[in-house]
Amino acid sequence: MQLQRRDNQSPLIYMNKLDFITEELEKLKEAGLFINIRTIEGPQGAWITVDGKKVFNLCSNNYLGFANDPQLKSSAQKAIETYGVGPAAVRTIAGTTSLHKELERKLALFKGAESTLTFQSGFCSNLAIIPVIVGEGDVVFSDELNHASIIDGCRLSKAKIVRYGKIARGVTEPKYTCSHKKKTSRTTKKPTKLRTCSAFLFFYLR
Ligand SMILES: Cc1ncc(COP(=O)(O)O)c(C=O)c1O
Repeated sequence: MQLQRRDNQSPLIYMNKLDFITEELEKLKEAGLFINIRTIEGPQGAWITVDGKKVFNLCSNNYLGFANDPQLKSSAQKAIETYGVGPAAVRTIAGTTSLHKELERKLALFKGAESTLTFQSGFCSNLAIIPVIVGEGDVVFSDELNHASIIDGCRLSKAKIVRYGKIARGVTEPKYTCSHKKKTSRTTKKPTKLRTCSAFLFFYLR
């Protein structure tokens, strides 16, 4: 079976129709982009067991320790008694639960906002919200260090994307404060042009 390579180089002869997947995986490994997902055995916390080893966890989003909080666990157990273990479909299919509406009402109250909308993850929220705010004919100025979900959300929106880097941020390497993940050290020099963090975008609306 002959398939066209994605990089448009000479076609390869594949013995098996799934060989291209093996080839892709090899390329990812060579580029250092292959993700080996670890197995967490037990509850989240400062110390967790990963692949049989006890390790100090510095990379989750469980900043407030909610994931294993006794009060939240007990509330979740009560909710399961009433609602089961999930809504069985996204809210646009079979509806949203009164539990989710209650959560959003309380979050709005807490934030002093008119209403709130919750998503399963930060990635989902950026993919969902950015294409609603901007679209074809808009321009998004986006930090080159923005989170992948912001980059994907911008692409999905079909807006024109203008990426800017450290020069536009007015910050010289290695002292930048951009992405909390890629941060090298705190800057002492105040950025003079655009100041941003990976969570922020600048929109020019129609
Ligand atoms: C700015 C930003 N957006 C999106 C995400 C993705 O969030 P999640 O891991 O919940 O999908 C992160 C995660 O750290 C983030 O820092």
